[in-house]
Amino acid sequence: MIVSVMKIRTNFSLQTLNSLNVPANTPEIFFPTNLEELSELPQSKTAKCYILGEGTNTLFCEKSAPVIIKPSLVGIEVFENEAFFLISAACAENWHDFVLFCVNNGMYGLENLALIPGSVGAAPVQNIGAYGVEVGDFIERITWFDFASQKLSDFSKTDCQFAYRNSLFKQALSGRGIITHVHFALPKAWQAVDSYQGLNEIDSPITPQAIMAKVMQLRQAKLPEPKQLPNAGSFFKNPVVTADFFNKLQKKYPSMPFYKQANGAVKLAAGWLIEQAGLKGFREGGVGVHEKQALVLINYEGRLGQEVVDFACFIQDKVRSKFNINLDPEVRFIGSDGLTDITRLGVKK
Ligand code: EPU
Repeated sequence: MIVSVMKIRTNFSLQTLNSLNVPANTPEIFFPTNLEELSELPQSKTAKCYILGEGTNTLFCEKSAPVIIKPSLVGIEVFENEAFFLISAACAENWHDFVLFCVNNGMYGLENLALIPGSVGAAPVQNIGAYGVEVGDFIERITWFDFASQKLSDFSKTDCQFAYRNSLFKQALSGRGIITHVHFALPKAWQAVDSYQGLNEIDSPITPQAIMAKVMQLRQAKLPEPKQLPNAGSFFKNPVVTADFFNKLQKKYPSMPFYKQANGAVKLAAGWLIEQAGLKGFREGGVGVHEKQALVLINYEGRLGQEVVDFACFIQDKVRSKFNINLDPEVRFIGSDGLTDITRLGVKK
């Protein structure tokens, strides 16, 4: 009989496990690979832990991090019915590899989300999105391991409350369990999503492969590779403002990019706001704003999380004083006790 023993490490450095390359240590990290190991997680530890995927949207703000659980379940299964490919992927599968697997096997829909860093299990938490598609559009249900009951249960797509960079898992269920599997439903009748700026340049015939190639080309041109320039993708969310506020701002800045929302509100481009505030390419000490996409912050010299937080607060202040708009971070801030928020940690400059 093979007995599985969960990998556990103590006093463990997280510097290579976060794409901002911030130095931080956890007292204890657990790597559960299956349900049995998930059930072995001590409740005293899960009560105050942080669930870490590939660390591409996480900023450890202090030198000491909380207890970490790094779910390590792998595997992909494919089923189908007349209308859909039904694909179940375990949480620790790499997101981009999963997109490649789907597209290379003739299952389409996720091609606009190619090259997004991170894991399959983290994707629904912030409902990753790019080039006109959000992952929630293709999720049928999610399997969840609940720390308190130590049981698995399923959440339907509606239960998940997907919204722009948001979901139930980031809200009410935050820190209360683990997404073990994501179940996708990809329609066999494929429909191209090709209206986003840049994708409309693709020559016909428009194929999923052509969209994926273009998305990869656009991303590679603007978004730095974390191994070379440590970053966490978009650092802030694109702010949503009222129509009134937008109309006034647009008079002053007629070329400002904007996206009208179904409810009448208007989403603005945070990268544009930061650039207009004069900060594109700006660098202070070891932290800076990327030269090609101002929504990306770079930790050039592996500085402490607090320095990145201070820099982010400085950007927020500049954008607030120029536009009277508050930028909310997309990146998650983790203090020594777990999730925290930028306003409490921020040092105003
Ligand atoms: N812009 C500027 N200056 C900049 C950056 C952008 O003027 O420095 C302008 C662009 O010219 C464009 C508009 O702002 O008119 C939007 O820029 P872009 O298409 O690059 O997208 P984004 O709104 O900055 C969002 C997502 C990205 C995603 C892209 C493509 C958020 C917070 N970010 O960025 O997601 O890849 O759209 O769909 O919604 C991520 O979440 O980590 C991420 C990279």
